Amino acid sequence: MPSLTETSPVTVPSLIAAKGKERVSMLALYDAPSAAAADAAGIDVFLVGDSVEMAVYGRPNTLSATMDAMIRHARAVSDTTQRALVVGDMPFLSYQADAKEAVLNAGRFLSEGGCGAVKLEGGLRSLPAVEAILAADIPVMGHVGLTPQSYRKLGGFKVQGREAAAARSIAEDARALADAGCFAVVLECVPEALAAQITRLLPIPTIGIGAGAACDGQVLVFHDVVGLTRHLAPRFVRRYAELGRAMEEAARAFRADVKSGAFPSAEESFSAGPTPALRRVY
Ligand code: KIV
Repeated sequence: MPSLTETSPVTVPSLIAAKGKERVSMLALYDAPSAAAADAAGIDVFLVGDSVEMAVYGRPNTLSATMDAMIRHARAVSDTTQRALVVGDMPFLSYQADAKEAVLNAGRFLSEGGCGAVKLEGGLRSLPAVEAILAADIPVMGHVGLTPQSYRKLGGFKVQGREAAAARSIAEDARALADAGCFAVVLECVPEALAAQITRLLPIPTIGIGAGAACDGQVLVFHDVVGLTRHLAPRFVRRYAELGRAMEEAARAFRADVKSGAFPSAEESFSAGPTPALRRVY
């Protein structure tokens, strides 16, 4: 079997086969330009995350994400993606109330959003929805530890599993998801030792975010990675670019050129007479 890096497109079986052999790279992203850049860079998995509410729409949490909005973002990402596996993130209340509704919503990510799989939050408490979705042959990625849709109950975005009982319960959640047939599990904001223990325990890849280096893969929000989020990022984020600053500089330069009259130039303007037969003429 080829390595994950050699696999195109990335499939659910190829991700499972990568366990213990090659680390999985995953980014949460929401639009066509981001997907094009990350796909060219060889990122393995794209999560069309409900974090779009915070990263793009400036909301304080993810609870306002809707199915229709998530499908629209999923379509933009999947239409642009050649290689990465695109995973649709099931928003708050799209799977918690009823297993049948969960299947129908998960199915929309595949039929309308062009995704290859879905992700949903919660372990044992989400098992009825997970099992029903899997029974419809829709691949599911689990998500335990800090589950942002539960932040009201958790009292904020806090590290989970620091006490022994809480750690045991997160490990049981992860085990239950793997036993049910999930193809991977996100471990968010848990102590490194707990993530390492779960990674050893499970036959499927663990994807960490704020969960240390022992996981089988790592995920970050692309907006954080490229410096598009202005708010203070959590300590587990590593910024690889400062696009927010570059955008501000570009806007500043444009403003200065408009104010001084340096923009537009003659080349950037149209002259009278017949329109030349160019492809992009406005
Ligand atoms: O929505 C999201 O970006 C996520 C990741 C943090 C895993 O769920």
